[in-house]
Amino acid sequence: MLFLQNLDFEGKNVFVRVDFNVPLDEEGNIRDDTRIKAALPTIKYLLEQKAKVIIASHLGRPKGKFIPEFSLKPVSKRLSELIPQEVILAPDVIGDEVIKLKKVLKENQVLLLENLRFHPEETANDSTFAQLLAQEIDYYVNDAFGVCHRAHASVVAITQYVKKSAAGFLVKKEIDYLSKALHSPQKPYTAILGGVKVSDKIPVIENLLKKADAILIGGAMAYTFFKAQGFDVGRSLVEEDKIDLARLLLNRTREEKVNFLLPSDHIVAAEADPGAEPKTVDSFPLPPDMMGLDIGPKTVEKYSDILARARTIFWNGPMGVFEIDTFSRGTKKIAEAVANSEALSIVGGGDSAAAVYKSGVSDKISHISTGGGASLEFIANETLPGIEALTEKEK
Ligand code: 3PG
Repeated sequence: MLFLQNLDFEGKNVFVRVDFNVPLDEEGNIRDDTRIKAALPTIKYLLEQKAKVIIASHLGRPKGKFIPEFSLKPVSKRLSELIPQEVILAPDVIGDEVIKLKKVLKENQVLLLENLRFHPEETANDSTFAQLLAQEIDYYVNDAFGVCHRAHASVVAITQYVKKSAAGFLVKKEIDYLSKALHSPQKPYTAILGGVKVSDKIPVIENLLKKADAILIGGAMAYTFFKAQGFDVGRSLVEEDKIDLARLLLNRTREEKVNFLLPSDHIVAAEADPGAEPKTVDSFPLPPDMMGLDIGPKTVEKYSDILARARTIFWNGPMGVFEIDTFSRGTKKIAEAVANSEALSIVGGGDSAAAVYKSGVSDKISHISTGGGASLEFIANETLPGIEALTEKEK
């Protein structure tokens, strides 16, 4: 795989795929610009190297239609505040107007293309569309780690139609950290997995069974495992169609001799509602009219103890409904335990990253990934379509 330092960018037209899929509020203001800031080292480096920088991203899921709410206009505004160069927002990603803009791009300007997903061909990894994206382009740089798990035209197919492709600084940093957790974790290695669905986590659990010493489970997904063992979980969320699979996974944890832990106590309530009255329960059956919404204090203590001794930690998924204060304690306490440990700690984006920021401990985490889905898939499959495309092109 090529990296930025391997190429001479002077005077070249460089297509930089970034993940500027940032959360917007109802007025269309950016709520969190972490992903824009994370791509700045690559953008600045290319500008310093006198490249002509053409940036492309998706925003949300407009499903192949031009929908103004998904325009990259707010991103263009924010980017222009973060770099001294003028940011020109193109009206589209392909077409005559865009080609013209690519041709007249000057040294002190950056061209930001519109939302790639306004075209259905983007998510279809369409080669004709990729060829059009690559028009007037010399080199391709992928710095969009958050979307590397998607085989989309601007991530995969485009690499076939440019002279050279390279990974940007962010993609390199993400791969370096996640590879440490995959290939050379210092032991003990503890993984924490939370969130609602077991189904999202099956491949990652399967791979972690071979690598981790302990897997700590939280979030609603724990209740599918409990039900698989015959416990009465009240009204807790359960994936009924995944119960057999959960049972198989539990058997495998015994075979692999992994310390696979489920919560030993629960914060339950009638609803996942800010006004609901919480109750701590430490045995089954759970009250029939209530559901588990957070891990309880005994679980926090037990998990924190294991985390304090870990040397490598990978965390993906909250321990409860952390967006509601009443049910956020477990996730916050786990965030603190991860931050206080001496381990190399990697937090896979999305909700767990939000929890770390909300708990104010982000500066004590070794690496917070910008890609929730991508980091999980990398830990599960040990590679990603976007990374493969860069490697194949190099071959
Ligand atoms: C993300 O937010 O996880 C990435 O930008 C990928 O977005 P997607 O799930 O819509 O493909």
